[in-house]
Amino acid sequence: MARKPLIAGNWKMFKTHLDAIRLVQGLAHELAGHNFESVEVVVCPPFTSLRTIQTLIDSDRYEFGLGAQNMHWESEGAFTGEVAPGMLKSLDVDYVILGHSERRELFGETDEGVNEKAKAAFANGLLPIICCGETDAEREAGSTEQKVDRQIRAALDGLKPDDAARAVIAYEPIWAIGTGKTATPEDAQNTISYIRKVVAQSSGEDVAAAMRILYGGSVKSGNAAALMGQSDIDGALVGGASLEASEFAAIVKATK
Ligand code: PGA
Repeated sequence: MARKPLIAGNWKMFKTHLDAIRLVQGLAHELAGHNFESVEVVVCPPFTSLRTIQTLIDSDRYEFGLGAQNMHWESEGAFTGEVAPGMLKSLDVDYVILGHSERRELFGETDEGVNEKAKAAFANGLLPIICCGETDAEREAGSTEQKVDRQIRAALDGLKPDDAARAVIAYEPIWAIGTGKTATPEDAQNTISYIRKVVAQSSGEDVAAAMRILYGGSVKSGNAAALMGQSDIDGALVGGASLEASEFAAIVKATK
């Protein structure tokens, strides 16, 4: 079965809920007439805008999926400042980004924690977008494959094959995030095809063939078509360029 391309906007810690309304309305305008059956579009605003955007999606029948940027793995408890999977599900959230490199580097997230969160996502009817990728130093040292191998095996450990097949992986070289530097389409394709092999070994060929693997790191309208044209790249996780409706829409339109 063909993998449906997915373009997800990671808004990070940008946009108040009022800015969020303007952005998502602008995006709906830019994407009027877009065939959402051929390319899926997901917006991942901060927690404070999830309710607002969900209401807009419902009332104005926008075909965007809704994603959160993080969550805890426990279903409730004394975890000040955290958000539970069921809280996201009750807001009709579809996706949750897990293990973004900013969470790993700045907030101490571990491979084990990402795995707990992936299991909790499926237990609550959410689809995880699991991030992996190497630092500049790791790339220079030639250890990109070793790094993503470890991150992916750990994240998928113990997932049922049916669940793993619906998980999304985002390969985001850390040196390319927010820097304007992008992996060449060939390098991104090579690493993503390597990740697909790791998934085949850890979860089986069928899971690997079905799983969508995205590229992330300075994706823009100008480089999207070349990246998305690679056979193993099934879409993009977009940061900076998702904060402007016309630019994000252009990335969606460049995706086949
Ligand atoms: P960027 O961020 O597109 O701004 O590089 C991507 C991401 O961090 O998901």
